[in-house]
Amino acid sequence: MSVPYRRVQMPIASDVTLGQNVRIFQPELVNLCGCSIADETRIGAFVEIQKNASVGARCKISSHTFICEGVIIEDEVFIGHGVMFTNDIYPRAVKEDGTLQSEADWTVVKTLVKRRAAIGSNASVMAGVTIGESALVGAGAVVTRDVADYSIVAGVPARVIGDVREHREGHPVANNTPARLPRRGPRSAPGSGQDCA
Ligand SMILES: CC(C)(COP(=O)(O)OP(=O)(O)OC[C@H]1O[C@@H](n2cnc3c(N)ncnc32)[C@H](O)[C@@H]1OP(=O)(O)O)[C@@H](O)C(=O)NCCC(=O)NCCS
Repeated sequence: MSVPYRRVQMPIASDVTLGQNVRIFQPELVNLCGCSIADETRIGAFVEIQKNASVGARCKISSHTFICEGVIIEDEVFIGHGVMFTNDIYPRAVKEDGTLQSEADWTVVKTLVKRRAAIGSNASVMAGVTIGESALVGAGAVVTRDVADYSIVAGVPARVIGDVREHREGHPVANNTPARLPRRGPRSAPGSGQDCA
């Protein structure tokens, strides 16, 4: 079987708007087109960001994440590895008559991730939700509803399991944690985003 000829394009299209000091660790291993990425944001390998998506300043987008058209990510947001955004609630490949769907046949549903939110690895974010300021989405969660500011949500579907403010140094709950099963390992402060892009 012969492989059809395909014109090789740069993985960062010329219509991408990059702010100052954006760091794309392996530029040959990303797929960015028609999006904007603001100052000092870091992008890991195998990240795809589609047209009309925007990523704010000082964000961290970890490897293997997909940010589709219609996603707006504000400043200082942490996105873990393999986070999947969506922009169509009832996706279809073809129309009723069996011909391919085009852009005219569906509407992009927008998603907003507010400032300083953090999304754990392998989470899926359903189209149309808003993830609140400084909120934290647990690894593997499926976010189907809006997440309030500062909430910690986890599970499928994601439900509130805590408040990030309670885990901050100096907070009475953080300093007086009741006896529990041993921790899985040392913890960083929520949203601090250790360097594993
Ligand atoms: C959601 C999260 C913040 C919770 O951390 P925590 O507040 O320390 O919570 P705990 O580990 O004490 O767990 C509290 C409860 O939630 C459950 N839980 C924790 N994380 C969960 C997750 N991701 N999905 C489902 N349930 C989860 C625990 O099993 C526990 O349930 P139990 O009380 O019935 O035993 C954390 O587990 C998480 O997923 N962080 C994101 C990690 C990540 O993806 N980092 C990316 C950088 S590489």
